[in-house]
Parts: sequence; structure tokens; C-alpha cells
Amino acid sequence: MSVLKVALIGCGGFVRHTHLANLTGHEQFQIYAAVDIDLGAAQSIAEASGAAYWTDDADRAISDPAVDVVFIATPHHNHADLTIRAARAGKHIYCEKPMGLNEEECQAVAAAIQEHGVQYLAGYNRAVAPFTLQARALLASLQAPMLIYHRIADWNPYGTSWMIDESLSGGRVIGEGGHALDMMCRLAGQDPVRVYAEGGNFAAPSPTGAPDSAVITLGFPDGSSGVLYLSSVGNNAFPKEEVQITCANHTIVIYGFERMEVYSPGGQETFTLPAMDKGLRAMLDQAAAVFLDGAPSPTGIPEALRATRITFAAVRAIRTRQLQAL
Ligand SMILES: NC(=O)c1ccc[n+]([C@@H]2O[C@H](COP(=O)([O-])OP(=O)(O)OC[C@H]3O[C@@H](n4cnc5c(N)ncnc54)[C@H](O)[C@@H]3O)[C@@H](O)[C@H]2O)c1
Repeated sequence: MSVLKVALIGCGGFVRHTHLANLTGHEQFQIYAAVDIDLGAAQSIAEASGAAYWTDDADRAISDPAVDVVFIATPHHNHADLTIRAARAGKHIYCEKPMGLNEEECQAVAAAIQEHGVQYLAGYNRAVAPFTLQARALLASLQAPMLIYHRIADWNPYGTSWMIDESLSGGRVIGEGGHALDMMCRLAGQDPVRVYAEGGNFAAPSPTGAPDSAVITLGFPDGSSGVLYLSSVGNNAFPKEEVQITCANHTIVIYGFERMEVYSPGGQETFTLPAMDKGLRAMLDQAAAVFLDGAPSPTGIPEALRATRITFAAVRAIRTRQLQAL
């Protein structure tokens, strides 16, 4: 079995807590180079994973002929630039969401991926979470319009980090909001045609006023609609995330990606996973199939462009109070 050598760029909190264990535990990936502008962070990930080297020079790893895949987990403002540099070097790319911070950056990423013929996955991991796939299969069989409600709420989750600076992150609607808006499209099985949103910067003061809390409504061609309730001013004692879908005499509720209840004319069923599963491990399985076998990317350029476009439109709607056509 082939093993893909990974240059991991960005060795911060999410890598330490999640990607490190998933990548080191995956038989088709090997962390080969750890890269961070904070050399100590790169060193600790290299030592924990047995990487061949650590560096603060992204181009050293990107241009390394031994590297097959560039895995990007930096703040959002350099996702597009690093992706384009990796594509030019002929490397496959797994990049955390979003693909870029504006439409121009996203289009430049799409062009580079196409021009250099490399494979690309954006980190919209909820797309392949077990309950997303199970709910979608049921909804597809019902062939009827649906209403979707997705709540993500916690308290001031980003403190004073880069996440509250719109020039570095785009804000929480573009970051975490993108996960839920991508998932809504998958549940509805179609692309939205309209978005409206209300909200603002309610939590930590942001140098740019990036919205961190919003109610965002999507309209779909078949009349389905979805609401994302994204709050940074909730209380952390309450469960953070829930998705509820109603369609053709069915109600589906996903609690924290750990338990799912399905209410139907046939009765009620409850499904429980051993632990919360937002699809992060499954994304690596998919990525291996995409990179090694040329399988279609579940979160490729069309899906990444769709998700970012919706989030950009939602932020415009918040700022202009105008309905946005998509
Ligand atoms: N999929 C998910 O559910 C999920 C959850 C959390 C974070 N994320 C994503 O993971 C990424 C990282 O988030 P985080 O919470 O780990 O942030 P973080 O601030 O903890 O880590 C970011 C790291 O990137 C490094 N860095 C910054 N600029 C760099 C550059 N130019 N080159 C190399 N390294 C650089 C920083 O020094 C830092 O160590 C973000 O894209 C974020 O959206 C995804």
C-alpha cells in the first residue's frame, strides 16, 4: 500500500488536538515535514510524529521532491497563497477551510489547481461525517422540499486571537459558518439561489468588526430553505451544535454529531456513535482515495467555491441588509 508523504504547514492548536493523531494513525499518510513560522511549534509536531525535519521555510517543504501532499492548517489569510504555491510545485493539497478570503483569491486557487492538474480537498469535514451521509441518504429518498435548522453557539470562542481579525480570518461566518452552510447544501442536495442574513460583531471586539454572530437563511431552487444560527455569545455549558431537518413527515435531529434521532411515520429510531464524529478521520480516508486513486474529491473546487461564495454573500447581507442572489 502506498504511503503519502505530507508537508504539514501550520502546527497550531487544531493540528495538535486533532490532525496529528488522525494523520499519524492513518496507514496511508506519513508526516514528513512540519512547517510553522513558530519553529518550536514545528519542532514539537515533528518530534511527536517522527517527521524527517521541521522548518519555518514553507518553500523548502513545498519544493521537496519527497513530499506528495501539502496539508495547510494556517490562519486563513495565507490559505490561497500556500495552495497556489503547492499546486505550482505539483503537490496534492488538503487545505483547511476556507480556500480563500475573497472571490478573487478563490478563483486564483481554482485556476492553479486546474492548470497544474493536482488534486484538492477543502477541510469541510462535516460533509463526510457519518450522520451527514445517513441523513442525506434518507432525505434523497424522500424527494420533497425540506427545512433545515443548524445551530452553532458558544461563548466568545476566539479570545483575542487571529480569528477575530477579518484581515486574517474573514471572521467566524466565513470560517466555522462555512462548515454548516456547506453541510446545508449537501442535506438539501442542491445549490442555494439566495441568501439573507442579520447579525454583527457581538463577542470579542474585533479590529475590523468581522461578524461573529448571525442568523443566515438560504433559499434553494425546490423551495427548501435552511437557517444557520451561529452565535459567539452563547454559554459553553449548553451543547454547542445541533442540526434539525423536517421533510415529508420526517424529523431528523443530529445532536453534536454523536447522536441522531429520526422520527418517521414508521416510528422513532435513535443512532448513537461511540464518540462525536464530525468526519475528520473520514476526510483522510477520502483524501487518500483522491490522491492515490484519483477518486472524486468530496470537497473539491466546486464545493469549496460554493461554500465560500455563500459565506461572502452572507457577510455582505449582514453589512448591507440586502438579500443576495447567488
Ligand atoms: N475543520 C475544523 O473543524 C477546524 C477546527 C479548528 C480549526 N480549523 C482550521 O485549522 C487552521 C488552523 O487553526 P488553529 O485553530 O490551529 O490556529 P492556530 O493559531 O492554533 O494555529 C495556526 C498555526 O499556523 C502558524 N502559521 C501562521 N502563519 C503561518 C505561515 N505563513 N506559515 C506556516 N505557519 C504559519 C502559526 O504559527 C500557528 O502555529 C485554520 O484554517 C482553521 O480554520 C479547522
